[in-house]
Amino acid sequence: MNTQIIIDASYFAAAFLFIYGLKRMSSPVTARSGIVVAGVGMLVATLASFLYVFGINDAAQPHLNTNVILAAVALVIGTGWAWWSGKKVAMTAMPQMVALYNGMGGGAAAAIAAVELLRASAVHETVSLIVTVIGALIGAISLAGSLIAWAKLDGKINGTWRIKGQQAFNGMVFFATLAIGLYIVFAAHGHASIAIVAAFFIGALCFGVLMTMPIGGADMPVVISLYNAFTGLAVGFEGYVLQNPALMIAGMVVGSAGTLLTLLMAKAMNRSVSNVIFSNFGTTGNEQQGEIKGSMKAAEAGDAAVNMRYASKVIIAPGYGLAVAQAQHKLFEFVKLLTDAGVEVKFAIHPVAGRMPGHMNVLLAEAGVPYDMIYDLEDINTEFKEADVAMVIGANDTVNPAARHNKSSPIYGMPILNVDQAKQVYVIKRGQGKGYSGVENELFFADNCNLVYGDALKVMVTMIQAIKSLEGGH
Ligand code: TAP
Repeated sequence: MNTQIIIDASYFAAAFLFIYGLKRMSSPVTARSGIVVAGVGMLVATLASFLYVFGINDAAQPHLNTNVILAAVALVIGTGWAWWSGKKVAMTAMPQMVALYNGMGGGAAAAIAAVELLRASAVHETVSLIVTVIGALIGAISLAGSLIAWAKLDGKINGTWRIKGQQAFNGMVFFATLAIGLYIVFAAHGHASIAIVAAFFIGALCFGVLMTMPIGGADMPVVISLYNAFTGLAVGFEGYVLQNPALMIAGMVVGSAGTLLTLLMAKAMNRSVSNVIFSNFGTTGNEQQGEIKGSMKAAEAGDAAVNMRYASKVIIAPGYGLAVAQAQHKLFEFVKLLTDAGVEVKFAIHPVAGRMPGHMNVLLAEAGVPYDMIYDLEDINTEFKEADVAMVIGANDTVNPAARHNKSSPIYGMPILNVDQAKQVYVIKRGQGKGYSGVENELFFADNCNLVYGDALKVMVTMIQAIKSLEGGH
């Protein structure tokens, strides 16, 4: 009885810590501590689960000691692996790591459901059964889908995979799986054979694979966020089945956060979630976009640097290429030289710059850029017309003015950073590479725009040297 009070109090504390941690994650200043707070919550919930097992131990259940030992071994292996992989993961590999962890969450929920469906002593009340089966379906889809997303982002699977009549085939697999689920609930009343339950899980796993295979690699962050919402829901449902409040609350928090993030990302790309899942955006490379007037003009990195050194206001728009080049430290070194010379410098962040939510914020934070230099799109977009120079470093789609006026462009309607309104624009990129959407950027042809060709890291090193030699020359 005492154990039960401790367990309930611990779950309450864990739920509070999850929600408070999430709240702290809403600002970059408090985000780091928010992650620690939520992590402590997870630790409390995990320890409470062990108490729960010991609580049952009082009732002298058989096999319990073996279960406790198995759980402890799994915990040690899981913690060790996560600690090691979390320490060594590169910033650019973060989305696939999230995909993998997310898949594990979905798999865990599906595993709980499998145990419940196969356990002879399980409660076979209809509502519980329905919730178990829905959780199993969503969890298994999330597991399979997240693993495919991980493999695509990690380069283990290349390209998209589409067959004729793909949607119809996917639909068939889904409805067949659903039909088996209905059979388990309403015909077998939870007493289905192992073969039927296995067929149900195989169907759900296959659907997860089929649903994810046709989606382009660069759309994966949105898909992962969607699977994140799925995992949360599945965990919440299985928490209901087990009558475990910590699982229910954690699952619902993850489910709603994942749903909101998916919708926000889709909105920032001006696409619907169904468009992300069912269309092959950005992979054909022959989208219509009308003719672009003007020509591309190159500039030397040193000249661009000197021009910025004598400007009074410079706004920097970073993008995916900054992450590829890992040039964030050199970029900030360059910015410090400018600010030391009295130039006002601001960073403009597009909500979907890079390849994962908050990608640019994380990179700039890693380089030590103060938060008060970093501005969101809606806060800075009116300032570009006052800027002497806008420097675009490794960004493309997020600064393409076609999104504002060219109705035939695939990115039409997507909010963009108005870098083209600055007096002078410098774009740092390696060559003629297109952005993620695969469309040509009319900014590069504008009269006030010059391209500084080269890897962002090398260009930054040259720019730093140019400013330093200028200062040394005085
Ligand atoms: P992108 O449009 O992807 O363009 C990146 C540019 O960086 C390319 O034009 C490339 O040109 C250049 N680049 C690549 N490596 C470089 C390097 N080492 N040095 C210098 N330049 C380099 O970037 P963006 O403006 O950040 O836009 C992001 C896109 O991803 C959007 O379309 C967005 O919708 C999509 N997306 C974002 C997310 C999230 S959540 N952030 C999720 C899914 C999709 P070169 O090859 O010529 O160098």
